[in-house]
Amino acid sequence: MTFNALKEKGLPLEKQVRTWHDIAHRKYNKNEVDCYSRTRQILMNGIEVEAWNFKHNFARLCQDQDTLEFLAQTKRIEDAQQTTINWLAPCDQSVLETTLGYEQVAVDLTAWMAQNEPDPYVKETFDFGLLEDFDHLYRYSQWAYMIHGITPNAVVQGQTDVILGRPTQNHHNCNIVRLRKHYDKATATPQTKVNILTLVAGEQQTHNYYGEHGFAYGSELLRETYAEIKDVEEEHVTMYESLIDPSESFYEKLLMHEFTEVCTYHNCMTDEKDEMLMPIWEEFLAMELDHLQTAAKLFKKYEKRDPEEVIGEDIVHPCHFTSQKDYVEKVLRAEIDKRLGSNKDYQFTKDIPDDWASYWVQETAGKDGSPSEVTIRVIAEQKNRDLVCANEKLKSDLPKLAKKSVQQKGMTCDTVTAEEYEKMSKEEFEL
Ligand SMILES: [Fe+2]
Ligand SMILES: [Fe+2]
Ligand SMILES: [Fe+2]
Ligand SMILES: [Fe+2]
Repeated sequence: MTFNALKEKGLPLEKQVRTWHDIAHRKYNKNEVDCYSRTRQILMNGIEVEAWNFKHNFARLCQDQDTLEFLAQTKRIEDAQQTTINWLAPCDQSVLETTLGYEQVAVDLTAWMAQNEPDPYVKETFDFGLLEDFDHLYRYSQWAYMIHGITPNAVVQGQTDVILGRPTQNHHNCNIVRLRKHYDKATATPQTKVNILTLVAGEQQTHNYYGEHGFAYGSELLRETYAEIKDVEEEHVTMYESLIDPSESFYEKLLMHEFTEVCTYHNCMTDEKDEMLMPIWEEFLAMELDHLQTAAKLFKKYEKRDPEEVIGEDIVHPCHFTSQKDYVEKVLRAEIDKRLGSNKDYQFTKDIPDDWASYWVQETAGKDGSPSEVTIRVIAEQKNRDLVCANEKLKSDLPKLAKKSVQQKGMTCDTVTAEEYEKMSKEEFEL
């Protein structure tokens, strides 16, 4: 059944202002919530932050009174939606637990998108980014155990593997190398556009979360680990946003933002089982339909084009959360040694030239070592080995994967070697 967002009935703007109680009172139980309800909550917070932020940027450059009035009214609504969604997280959910949730979003969302992405180059970029967030989940999981005594399955509930990915110390690139080729706005499908904007919003919010919370712990090494991974999320925002056609006008971008909100809420509503969350997705979808329809009128008026040319006549689903272990394992085995090429392409470590610009960044930032590597050394000191959740075959292949991931240059002095992983893999994790 098609769902034409330009024709469905929304909630009028004058009914979108809510009471403080309604905005702020709901929160889930961290021990009972389904991990994919939590990932929806984390993602939709990022979507709302982006919607709000974009409107402020647009308003600062806009001279049209009608448009300014629409932006002024809906900014407040986006902001109140963001409060409701972000504050669903209960106060007893620690920063590290929330962090595992953020990385689970990144892994399972990117894997889903990669398999539903019509543009092969965009898909390759999703697969590439996927293995980096997968490694972040592994590094942070060690910390969640060391600081709070919880295993990652307390958060990811066995749906996402926790094991070495492309090592974080090799995620640091020259930001010019991070820039990718953008799609062509005239030929890209709505699915591609919505996928990218959804991921940009998610990565941006992950970056913001680490920036706002990475100092919450006293451990110097954990602070540095957050700083190191936050910087990678900054690169992820740069990489994914560079896929967007920069010649889209502000009105086209406004249309895409509202359409992305409609699509993501619709997807959440379709998948949700949680009785407290379901009415939120339904209500906010109705609000977004109204935003979208006004944005479509503005687009028609100022661009003299049909909004269907941009968003099509049916909804798309960018964020179906489900376990992606098999897919992620396949990409991990094939691409752990993949790196960003200097010509907006991809290359394998054996083909990287000596003058690759990212080596300079890795060698400079990693001059004193890499906190994400030391993390593994510290847990191994305490527990004999790293904390890993994966099938037996993948676990036993970890030293092989570590070996495959090595670069000729840019490896820090504290790199955990394949031989060390081999030794660790023979040990039991001492719970
Ligand atoms: Fe919104
Ligand atoms: Fe990440
Ligand atoms: Fe990321
Ligand atoms: Fe909106």
